[in-house]
Amino acid sequence: ADSHVEVLPIIDSTNQYLLNNIERLTTGDSCVAEFQSKARGRRGRQWFAPFGSNLYFSMYWRLDQGIAAAMGLSLVVGIVMADTLRAISGQDIKVKWPNDLYLDDQKLAGILVELAGKTGDCAHVVIGIGVNLMMTNPDPNIVNQKWANLGKVDRNLLVAKVVKNLTSKLTDFEQHGLAPFLDDWLRLDNFVDRPVKLLIGDNVIRGVAKGINEQGALILEQNGKTNTFIGGEISLRSD
Ligand code: BTN
Repeated sequence: ADSHVEVLPIIDSTNQYLLNNIERLTTGDSCVAEFQSKARGRRGRQWFAPFGSNLYFSMYWRLDQGIAAAMGLSLVVGIVMADTLRAISGQDIKVKWPNDLYLDDQKLAGILVELAGKTGDCAHVVIGIGVNLMMTNPDPNIVNQKWANLGKVDRNLLVAKVVKNLTSKLTDFEQHGLAPFLDDWLRLDNFVDRPVKLLIGDNVIRGVAKGINEQGALILEQNGKTNTFIGGEISLRSD
């Protein structure tokens, strides 16, 4: 069956809206809103979602491999979004492990994947994507890092391409896993071959970023050895 895109003017959160309506959705159904009053970011953070200026998009996906595949899925979403935004804007959009898009070393977009529930081995997830397009004067209490705008784009065209590309690449991911996407990640990785620090809780880990493995873990080169990490926040370092 064909998927549907619901266009909402005002909502608490597009992710929450799909979570609330999960029983009537089929894989690939999505929604967009002009404004979100309670937009969510990762790690329990808020997301700044002013009226009309950005893209606020969510899609339901039925993950037959179960919740263990959610990490890989979210990385594929990043790759698809980077390539789609590149094609539409001509700008050098990058991915930041695990779930951000960057432009000129500044955050352009964020991805939040949430679990709606499970039936047997299969996990029902909601993929939320927020992309800064024409944002002005963000609330500094909510936006506390350097950020970028994509600029003016045709949002209808953007949503149409996002739906088409996500549906096709997530289907590839379900069949073949992350392996076919590792080169795409290297091509798009904002930090590859650059010195980074990884913050895990209070621990600071230093290394040189080398992309991701088939499980979606971050690869760091440290003293000539490669190690993998599954959590934390990376940033550039100068020391
Ligand atoms: C992050 O970088 O912390 C993730 C941000 C995700 C924001 C999007 S906007 C559309 C969708 N609905 C939400 O409530 N959050 C996501």
